[in-house]
Amino acid sequence: MSESNPLKRAAEKVADTLSGDGAGPQDGIPGKPGPESPPVAEPTRPRDPLPPKPDQSGPDTVSPTGQPTGADQARFAQSGSYLTNAQGTRLPDTDHSLKAGPRGPVLLQDHHLREKVMHFDHERIPERVVHARGAAAHGVFQSYGTAASVTKAAFLAEEEETPVFVRFSTVLGSRGSSDTVRDTRGFATKFYTSEGVFDLVGNNMPVFFIQDAIKFPDIIHAGKPHPDREIPQAQSAHDTFWDFVTLHTEATHHTLWNMSDRGIPRSYRTMEGFGVHTFRLVAADGGTTLVKFHWKPKLGVHSLVWEEAQIINGVDPDFHRRDLADAIEAGAYPQWELGIQTFPDTPDQTFEGIDLLDPTNLVPEELAPVRPVGLLTLNRNPSNFFAETEQVAFHVGHLVPGIDITDDPLLAGRLFSYLDTQITRLGGPNFPQLPINRPHAPVNDMLRDGLHQTAVHRGVAPYRPNSLDGGCPFTAGADTGAYIESPVRVPEATKVREAPESFADHFSQPRRFWLSMSPVEREHIIGAYTFELSKCYEQAIRERALQVLANIDPALCAEVAAGLGLPAPEPTVPLADVAPSPALSQVGQSWPTDGRVIGIVAGPDGDLDGVRAVRDAVLEGGMVPLVIGPVGGTLGSLTVQRTYANARSVEFDALLLAGTPAVGSDAYGARDAKGLPAAADRAPTDPRVSLLVSEAFRHGKALGAWAGGEAVLDASGVPVDAPGVVVTTSGTAALEQLARLLGEHRAWERFAAA
Ligand code: HEM
Repeated sequence: MSESNPLKRAAEKVADTLSGDGAGPQDGIPGKPGPESPPVAEPTRPRDPLPPKPDQSGPDTVSPTGQPTGADQARFAQSGSYLTNAQGTRLPDTDHSLKAGPRGPVLLQDHHLREKVMHFDHERIPERVVHARGAAAHGVFQSYGTAASVTKAAFLAEEEETPVFVRFSTVLGSRGSSDTVRDTRGFATKFYTSEGVFDLVGNNMPVFFIQDAIKFPDIIHAGKPHPDREIPQAQSAHDTFWDFVTLHTEATHHTLWNMSDRGIPRSYRTMEGFGVHTFRLVAADGGTTLVKFHWKPKLGVHSLVWEEAQIINGVDPDFHRRDLADAIEAGAYPQWELGIQTFPDTPDQTFEGIDLLDPTNLVPEELAPVRPVGLLTLNRNPSNFFAETEQVAFHVGHLVPGIDITDDPLLAGRLFSYLDTQITRLGGPNFPQLPINRPHAPVNDMLRDGLHQTAVHRGVAPYRPNSLDGGCPFTAGADTGAYIESPVRVPEATKVREAPESFADHFSQPRRFWLSMSPVEREHIIGAYTFELSKCYEQAIRERALQVLANIDPALCAEVAAGLGLPAPEPTVPLADVAPSPALSQVGQSWPTDGRVIGIVAGPDGDLDGVRAVRDAVLEGGMVPLVIGPVGGTLGSLTVQRTYANARSVEFDALLLAGTPAVGSDAYGARDAKGLPAAADRAPTDPRVSLLVSEAFRHGKALGAWAGGEAVLDASGVPVDAPGVVVTTSGTAALEQLARLLGEHRAWERFAAA
């Protein structure tokens, strides 16, 4: 077994934890629900709770005041082999209420019934007002030390390792909404540093809709479902969103990013992250530097195509959540480099004419390169979604010495908002004591009491100055690690409610983004605007949106106008003369393929030896092979992971065809509408397989066939000589040829731009 192959290593790890003969027939395939495969019959012999799966972990065990306890995480989970009530008293039955006779009334004295139902009644907490839908993982941040000259932050010193917890999210949808909607994604990282918690609460886009936090309720009210019917869920394709962003044109740049491929990422693992605001770094000698934070995914930036995203919303609403968890379970640990763009801390806080306090601006990487300063690796799935992913509380005000804020007015509002909202969401002021939120640095804060206080403080003097507790706690100085705000000069000014003049240019940065896109990315943007605006009811809003587009680029405006059946207006502002920033395009590079999902379609008469060989080669390449067969069970000795009835192309990055599978006995409309085509019984292959293939082709995915699989391509309308399609003599040969294409994400040549 290869040392270098993470999937194989993960399979081995799983096998090690199992008694008996190894990892079983699904060896190496992520998604196993528990650490042990269950018996068919209900277990009856008492035993202690099972451990989490090998890929899972809870938060590190520190006390509410930041002390490492060294305790096994199991001590914080359910314990003992017998069912008890919340007080630890064992119970004989939890299936029947206490009654006066089997057909008699339930008795009020049934304290077990009362406790069980009372607790259930209170299991839900308010979801986040934004970013309610998310998924998270534990990991580690390894610092290169390359930021040490500009910041004294201890976790950025050379060779520092810091535990982290990262939560990804969508913005608009409810907690149960779909993952692949068109939206911005949150990318929030909690660094448990030796100097206290640092939270980098960013997004997968470097710019924001608004320049001032006082507009946050407005943009969110506009983007959320309409307040009367509460539809549409998790969508921006509706009148209120477009009403707001076309009237409040500082939203233009962020809206354009949302309409680009960045709005529909393939995976959380293939997203960039951005701190958005300009922050201020403070060096050991007190020198300051302005900075923008970037996360660069090792797997490159990769997106879905819109039809794929829409199908996934129905077929697998948990697509991104599953992808992240599966990749970590499979040992294909996602990684990002943290990078910084630095700028001189000048009094005007601009760089090359770009106002660094305006969060609708980005600074092109060609003007200020991103310098890598450390590596983030996500390597453990949470063991309990609620305790960790739901209860984690990020806050832009969680800062450590060496990282300070600037006067960005959006950041100022956020500094207030996060703490405030968490009091409601987490039910009181003691949420920093929840296990996932506990700092890994000593806490002596003089904050006392309140709901859900879990620390048991000592002493009598939680005030300063005091002598009764020996004067403790003492304030620190710069030499003892205190967080000291940079003594920035605040210009003399008059109190006003207005924005600086430099915030008034709403179109030149969007124009730069548009000009930086490749032809196929521009087509996707045109398609997205046309789709979204065509979903608006009101023509006035569409016309207003076209005016905004005309001010970005007349060609963009003309194409969208044509799609909407409306005339294209003339620009009302001079078009900015800006140089494109090639770094903004996500097409044209090649990336590693770790954790990619390869579907292998086979029937009982296919080349099953070849399927086994290619399955092993896919695993060896650090990817996930899923065998797609006519029905569940096995094909020869291979376990079938998907059937023709339940597989959909959107789940796979590439498809391999091991022969021409015959039409399945369940391929008829009443059983499965995908099997409906009238000619199904005469077709050379199952119509569900043809649908898989034609859809994958349409979405630019790699296709390979051998042992007669080319007949399936033909039946699916796929030319064998199309880009990214290979017909070879074996599955392994097909995989080898498709590897390059997988690295480029899609056969872009199939998407001819007009
Ligand atoms: C640059 C602009 C912004 C970015 C990048 C951003 C990012 C995020 C992210 C990533 C989350 C989810 C955190 C998690 O996973 O738990 C979040 C939540 C939230 N954001 Fe923002 N946000 C921005 C602006 C704002 C503004 C201006 C406000 C309010 C004035 C705001 C209020 C909130 C609130 C209330 C939550 C929910 C927090 C919770 O319940 O724990 N955000 N934001």
